Amino acid sequence: MKKLLLVFGTRPEAIKLCPLVYELRRRGAEAVVCVTGQHRRMLDQALAAFRLTPEHDLDVSRPGQTLTDLTTAVLERLPPVLAAERPDIVLVHGDTTTAFAAALACYYARVPVGHVEAGLRTGDIFAPYPEEFNRRAVDAVSRYLFAPTAENRANLLREGADPNRVFVTGNTVVDALALTVRPDFTHPALDEAAGRRFLLVTAHRRESLGEPMRRMFAAIRALAAEREDVYILCPVHENPAVRAAAYEALGGRERVRLTEPLDVEAFHNLLARSYFVLTDSGGIQEEASALGRPVLVMRDVTERPEGVAAGGLRLVGTDPETILSASRQLLDDPGTYDAMARAANPYGDGTACRRIADILLGGA
Ligand code: UD1
Ligand code: UDP
Repeated sequence: MKKLLLVFGTRPEAIKLCPLVYELRRRGAEAVVCVTGQHRRMLDQALAAFRLTPEHDLDVSRPGQTLTDLTTAVLERLPPVLAAERPDIVLVHGDTTTAFAAALACYYARVPVGHVEAGLRTGDIFAPYPEEFNRRAVDAVSRYLFAPTAENRANLLREGADPNRVFVTGNTVVDALALTVRPDFTHPALDEAAGRRFLLVTAHRRESLGEPMRRMFAAIRALAAEREDVYILCPVHENPAVRAAAYEALGGRERVRLTEPLDVEAFHNLLARSYFVLTDSGGIQEEASALGRPVLVMRDVTERPEGVAAGGLRLVGTDPETILSASRQLLDDPGTYDAMARAANPYGDGTACRRIADILLGGA
């Protein structure tokens, strides 16, 4: 049986890879987990939610660290783990600096890499920054390319990837939702929101920091001020720059509740019960599509255009007036709302982990 080493370091990677760890182990494979600790607190929160204890922890996180610090720390600390574990394949996920540096370390050590969530592209190397570079670099060195959608596969083939190495699997985040969303969920925020429309807001992208993020939060502030019929919950990312911007713009505002990052079970269940979502997140675009919740994507471009084409996602950029008018339309126009809420989910059917395990381990 093959030995797999899964390397990840941020909240979204943990949420999307924990279900795969469980599926691989269920099949009898040796699936060893090495975390980098890039998102120290939010990673540990996600690991606790999935009750997963990593075998290795590179503990790279330092206050104020740069992308260079992070990259070099992973490049230095992963090779001893590779030497000790001698995995047949290393699995990485998505577009983080953890994924990029781990894939590069494997390439140097000539260990085959499997890239989960391969082939997402915006076509602009600075949007998102540095994720568009990271995902292209990981794809370039990967032996197995697990593309969530046919469109992701087409992106890879257009760049010259070997078709025999590209597999369309769906996104493992849909598998994660099956583990977290449940009908009997309760939360104080839902009680507080009673009688009003419950909106979820998140923002964290590096390229949004500064003026674009100020504009997004100004739009949320204006929406809360003008609409007595909404309740806005905004779990704030651990990035100190995001926290400062969120608390400055939204702290103490009526009908807005800022919270610490929510554990994934709470977040998924609140998402499932939200009226709509405003976000610059990648994963939330997929989760909301799977749960039939409309999303206003506060970005100019998305690497997840399938959801825009299906009708569940709408790109609104960071101009406050555009964000506000799109929000008003969702609140006031049932036709627009229903069309978005009923859009098809293009991100998978909850069998991505099984498909990936089939490919890696050879059949059910
Ligand atoms: C990273 C990923 C991005 C992903 C996002 C998910 C990179 C380059 N980007 O961006 O693709 O969308 O995660 O949230 O890998 N911090 C803490 N505690 C935490 C988490 C973060 O203090 O639990 C601080 C970090 O120390 C750093 C800042 O937040 O100062 C930003 O974190 P970082 O991991 O560098 O990038 P993200 O913007 O979170
Ligand atoms: N999430 C969470 N708690 C929160 C906010 C988000 O567990 O308070 C989850 C969310 O369900 C999704 C992931 O974190 O699975 C998205 O992370 P983020 O937006 O930070 O990163 P991205 O998906 O943009 O890479």
